[in-house]
Amino acid sequence: VKNKLVLHRGFYLISGIHSPEEVDSIQDLEIRDSDVFVITYPKSGTIWMQQILSLIEGRGDVTVTMHKEASQRIPWLEDAGGKNRFAGDPSPRLRVSHLDYKFMPRALKQKRGKVIYLARNPKDILVSYFHFHYYAAVFETPENFSDFFEKFLEGRVFCGRWFDHIKTWYSHKDEMNFLYLTYEEMIQDLRAAVERISMFMGKELINAELDSVAEHSTFDEMSKNPYANYRNVSDELLHQNKGAFMRKGEQQHVGLRGQVHTVL
Ligand code: A3P
Repeated sequence: VKNKLVLHRGFYLISGIHSPEEVDSIQDLEIRDSDVFVITYPKSGTIWMQQILSLIEGRGDVTVTMHKEASQRIPWLEDAGGKNRFAGDPSPRLRVSHLDYKFMPRALKQKRGKVIYLARNPKDILVSYFHFHYYAAVFETPENFSDFFEKFLEGRVFCGRWFDHIKTWYSHKDEMNFLYLTYEEMIQDLRAAVERISMFMGKELINAELDSVAEHSTFDEMSKNPYANYRNVSDELLHQNKGAFMRKGEQQHVGLRGQVHTVL
């Protein structure tokens, strides 16, 4: 049985994975200044950021990424139990989330904690998301590409319309400690992106450490490491014979850097 998309306060969640009550309680979370939230629309490179953040936290030491799943190193804010784990965790609490701005902790909107919004060209997201619907067991298999294309444009997919997601987040950026980053600039210069991210996190790394973070977060390195590419995840969640999380990792279309103002 496929999990259904459920519309909650205008935003599609996945029943069986997300509980609307838990998601609603996120806004009351207490935030520390050292908290960092990476926000993405699906298929924008979330797993890439999970790898980079845990490597930055470990000052380039790759050991932790070889023994612990990406989703345990940098957990999802909205997953079952995510909120409970959050409250008691030591600093810095590093999290990823696909949620819309309106579900975020109130304190985050008063410049406590930090937000990194990672954007990717929607055409590449569309293709990646289409393939992901075959790979991820929670989603209904699309009839064909054009059917999925329509669903994507209309927002009848998990997280709704890409355009709404980025537009809402971006329009509120001045309320938060906010770093806007694109998948495409990470493709073009990963080392520079890593440095920007670590500076923003307030974690100053020496050159050799930054080199190591970049080295161990390339597409090839992550493809080789099952703890960095969800290969260990069971077939109940991911059909391991029908795809891969590290699918292509390419930029087919022009990025949004410098264009975001005109797009929005
Ligand atoms: P493709 O399907 O286009 O290959 P998310 O984690 O948000 O679901 O994003 C997954 C997408 O990010 C996939 O895109 C995946 O290949 C890409 N990705 C992950 N790690 C990457 C890396 N190190 N370099 C380039 N792309 C990466």
